[in-house]
Amino acid sequence: MVSIDATGFESWETLNRQARALLAGEHHRIANAANLASLIFTTVPDLNWAGFYFVEAGELVVGPFQGRPACVRIAQGSGVCGTAMQTRRTQRVDDVAAFDGHIACDPASRSEIVVPLIAGDELIGVLDVDSPEPGRFSARDQRGFEALAKTYIESLGG
Ligand code: SME
Repeated sequence: MVSIDATGFESWETLNRQARALLAGEHHRIANAANLASLIFTTVPDLNWAGFYFVEAGELVVGPFQGRPACVRIAQGSGVCGTAMQTRRTQRVDDVAAFDGHIACDPASRSEIVVPLIAGDELIGVLDVDSPEPGRFSARDQRGFEALAKTYIESLGG
């Protein structure tokens, strides 16, 4: 494993390069999720939660994350995560209070982005990131997190 110089956020390209280096040579789903959650949380500014939910028996179950303790199980179609699971599309929510069914794990969260993790044809989980700032995530941030999700899927080695 390479050591990551935690100098803060420079660019999405740099962060994705760091992620690829961090996960290189390791295929373990939990280990790589844990390290990627930590990299995101310690590098991207203004976050209060970053982590993974994995699909298990048709629902989402919390995986490695950084931030306050979270709800363990989320049903398909429920909240922002369950909507990303159901639609298989990234959910970028500027104001979580205005999202019907939003599940408030940490009351400090004001905006949220959830990226589905699709390996081949299979939805294996979601990457969930929360911010205490309203409208924290831009379209560019969305592309950045989607690239990180792809890096994670590729690290699993098919
Ligand atoms: N807010 C999410 C629940 C997970 S927490 O943010 C960690 C949702 O509405 O699905």
